Amino acid sequence: MCWIFAYNGKKNAIPLLVEGLRTLEYRGYDSAGIAAVNEKKEIFLEKATGKVSNLASKVQKNPHAKDTYQAGIAHTRWATHGKVTLENTHPHVSENERFYVVHNGIIENYMGIKNILEKKYHFYGDTDSEIIAKLIEDSFDGDLLSTVTTVCEKMVGAYAIVVMDKENPSTIIGAKLGSPMIVGEGDDGVFIASDINAISHVAKEFVSLEDGETVVITDGKKEIYSLGERIIKTSEVIDHNQEMVDKGNFDTFTEKEIYEIPEVIKNVCKWRIDFEKKEIINETLESLGDHEIKRIEIIASGSSYFAGQVGSYWLKTLAGIPTEVRISSEFLYDTFLPHKKTLYIFISQSGETADVRECLKMVKAKWCLTFGIVNVVGSTIARMCDLGLYSHAGVEVGVASTKNIIGQYGVLLLLALSLWIKRDLQIHQCKTIIEELWNLPDTFELQLQQANTYKEIAKKYAKYPSMFFLGRNILYPVAAEGSLKLKELSYIHSECYSTGELKHGPLALIDKNTPSFVLNLKGIMQEKTISNVREIQARNGKVIGIITSGEDKSLYDDMIEVPETSAIVSPFLPLVPIWIMSVEIAKTLWRDVDKPQNLAKSVTVE
Ligand code: M6R
Repeated sequence: MCWIFAYNGKKNAIPLLVEGLRTLEYRGYDSAGIAAVNEKKEIFLEKATGKVSNLASKVQKNPHAKDTYQAGIAHTRWATHGKVTLENTHPHVSENERFYVVHNGIIENYMGIKNILEKKYHFYGDTDSEIIAKLIEDSFDGDLLSTVTTVCEKMVGAYAIVVMDKENPSTIIGAKLGSPMIVGEGDDGVFIASDINAISHVAKEFVSLEDGETVVITDGKKEIYSLGERIIKTSEVIDHNQEMVDKGNFDTFTEKEIYEIPEVIKNVCKWRIDFEKKEIINETLESLGDHEIKRIEIIASGSSYFAGQVGSYWLKTLAGIPTEVRISSEFLYDTFLPHKKTLYIFISQSGETADVRECLKMVKAKWCLTFGIVNVVGSTIARMCDLGLYSHAGVEVGVASTKNIIGQYGVLLLLALSLWIKRDLQIHQCKTIIEELWNLPDTFELQLQQANTYKEIAKKYAKYPSMFFLGRNILYPVAAEGSLKLKELSYIHSECYSTGELKHGPLALIDKNTPSFVLNLKGIMQEKTISNVREIQARNGKVIGIITSGEDKSLYDDMIEVPETSAIVSPFLPLVPIWIMSVEIAKTLWRDVDKPQNLAKSVTVE
């Protein structure tokens, strides 16, 4: 999504802004721009379509880039309103060229405001964001803070904005509703960003602004206001980490992140499982025992939604709790029937996905119990949920989610195990599953050692225009995750079906040019899946089987073997091979693996 970054302090803003944009370009990469101001009230403005590197080379060629500008604002754009053009690139400027604005979010009533303002001002682009700059000019009452407050009252939608005033170069102002905004302080000044990762290398501590709060930064000092009153918020110390800016020896962040999977599953279990006693020892999970939980609803999007579907099998099968999984953008506009004995689980890697965040607001407004499974520490969804566990995957830079999904699976399985024990005291069976979890890091290591085998198979399939991913029961959402990853990374059309559903229509598409990945693991309707495979082969369709080691291989055109586990743990096993194959196909087709076209890492607009 769009991402904003701003600086006010002692140093030259320009290199800090460019570096800031580079750090979190994965949030949106259609175009980028910066504006900065100096004591002489001179403006530095550069914009470029495409990647931040395009902007960086324009900045480098600008002779003024080395001058000192004490305040500046910056933006990377993921296009919502209007094409990818320089005109639509932020920062946007008022007609009198005094006010500069960057915006993340969507102003839903922008057309109404624009229709009024168009009578007085010329609009150079198509974005909703441009109206903010014009509105500030139109509403300016001599005081920027009161003007920004007035403007915010007129806007409906979600926004995080930072405003810079050419006539008052020592001050920048940030305001937010819905979209995230972090304010960080370091030795050299104050930073505003959409995401803590953008400032972790320059700031020592931070505060997260809540909806309706405004930050005024003057000469490197911040003041926060809520409803017009100055408030004091306690800062949190930043956990400095450099891992996200470094790909190590890998070509892409996505590959590096896949190789971090053994660590992720260890981190998920650390302090939550006593492996010696084979017991769950987590207080948050323990505290769920205080609530009468009759039903569970899981709300998420994309890969997190598919992880939720896997979790629903665990919660139903182990804990015996009826569980429904809802796509957040649908749940939000469906009839909501709040239920006091329902646990509402919100799953999100970024913790900022607008569809999920808005559902959470809706559920909280009815005082229902909410539980978050989030990766980004301190993110909006993590802060809003009543209870929750982090998926502990570390920073995920690749737009395609990988290692975080393993973290989500881990938390969901722990949750199901803990609710299971509370209900049925199935301690012995629970200990067996915990033992399998203990073995998972080694299993993943072994799979990573097989990467070349997976890549060789993948290369054979890069030429096909369309593919199927098929699985049954608990492997169906795993197949769906595989299908999403392949299409997202390689742009190859891919569909996922429950294997048994193929004969009800999609089989019409099977021929020699449409291969199918079939997930067929021991204990999960293997024989029925084999019959489905034969139906595909009878139509000349190629089948890549993901099968349990030691099973009959003769059926498949190509196969990936995974170690035998219980059916409960089986969803963990197909992911590493599928992700490695998807990345390899994407690389064979020269795709941008870390930043697939048209996408962004955090989808902070509805
Ligand atoms: O940050 P979230 O988990 O809430 O994001 C949800 C989806 O946008 C995300 O999983 C998306 O589908 C990924 N690009 C999948 O790889």
